[in-house]
Amino acid sequence: MSEKVLQYNKPSLQGSLTVPGDKSVSHRSVMFGSIATGTTTVEGFLLGEDCLSTIDCFQKLGVHIEVEGTSVKIESPGMDSWQEPTEVLYTGNSGTTTRLMLGILAGSSVHSVMTGDASIGKRPMRRVIDPLRQMGAHITGRADGQYTPLAIQGTKLQAIEYNMPVASAQVKSAILLAGLRAEGTTIVRETEVSRDHTERMLRQFGADVEVKDGVVSLEGGQALSGTHVSVPGDISSAAFFLVAGAICHNSQLTLENVGVNPTRDGIIEVLSKMGATMTVMPNDNSQAEPTATIQIQTSTLSGTTIEGDMIPRLIDEIPILALLATQAHGQTIIKDAEELKVKETDRITAVVAELKKLGANIEATNDGMIIEGPTPLKGASLKTYGDHRIGMMGAVAALMTEGPVTLDDAQCIAVSYPSFFEHIEAVR
Ligand code: S3P
Repeated sequence: MSEKVLQYNKPSLQGSLTVPGDKSVSHRSVMFGSIATGTTTVEGFLLGEDCLSTIDCFQKLGVHIEVEGTSVKIESPGMDSWQEPTEVLYTGNSGTTTRLMLGILAGSSVHSVMTGDASIGKRPMRRVIDPLRQMGAHITGRADGQYTPLAIQGTKLQAIEYNMPVASAQVKSAILLAGLRAEGTTIVRETEVSRDHTERMLRQFGADVEVKDGVVSLEGGQALSGTHVSVPGDISSAAFFLVAGAICHNSQLTLENVGVNPTRDGIIEVLSKMGATMTVMPNDNSQAEPTATIQIQTSTLSGTTIEGDMIPRLIDEIPILALLATQAHGQTIIKDAEELKVKETDRITAVVAELKKLGANIEATNDGMIIEGPTPLKGASLKTYGDHRIGMMGAVAALMTEGPVTLDDAQCIAVSYPSFFEHIEAVR
């Protein structure tokens, strides 16, 4: 654990940043490039620890992957020629790696064992394994497959029709990736639409995927072929600077090349609704994932309610939105967000406990939190719970406090945003 003391003396923030590549798209680029036959090139790849775990797992399956700066080249013989890994596949802190790989490995021709860090060891896997078992997958693990380590014996799969019990792109993607290898047409029905990077990228790699009224259908047995993937900047990383720009005094920030996929852009809608002074300038959007340049400045904000089908569109931004709400006038209610309890840590408990230490008026509810603002924030010693987004929330809070903020473990931020503190230095 690396403790970090942050004393920023309430800076005004100015300048322009290009946030690192999108985590979800980076993971998928390596996964799809490894499933595909031929060469895939990726630009703008996120060199965060989570995505490096994905690369490491596929290298252990015999896929040739080279990283040079933020460019990645994947040369795969195709999934049928993967080699049986002689070592355990280690997925680190990454839920996306663990869950999507379950879907991929279930229909492969190899046996593998997968495990991750202490946080992964507590995250529910049955949400993925149950539908995969319905497809015929052979997966065993602790608590009948609820927790890692998990062993997967690749086998022939059958398509299923599946009604999603929770809005989860990880579950949807695992089923679709298994469906790619299954006999028949796999159909996934969502009541609330989760991020659709998998659907977009399947098409980019040459597969036919139909999406209509929240129903995704995919014919099994389709082959993918290598292609070029351009990774947009991660809106979930940009979120920390969007909030910092809105709450720090006398500030103006420009964020370039931010991914604004409509299944991910809930934070833009919420910032606008709360009164943020912000401009979103779309780029040439011929790519699979749309991007924009976003400008934001110090804003007078009012409280709001965040609920329902908005939640999956900003699920990873809730910690930083809670901090934003401490600076807004009136009450902010976040509800329908029980999923926060099964993220890298229980983010309802963690956000409420840490923001309280900073002087916020915030209470936890069963499915979210209620925040009254505005409240001045004071320095404190914070826990990150090994969760990158809790760590970055604490660091952005430190821009608002008189006294120092200490993070017990700042290293965890490298999971999704290794250059985070350099970017703070560049704009303060
Ligand atoms: C992700 C999906 C989300 C998100 C996670 C990345 C993905 O999780 O929280 O950070 O890449 O598919 P769920 O699908 O479990 O909600």
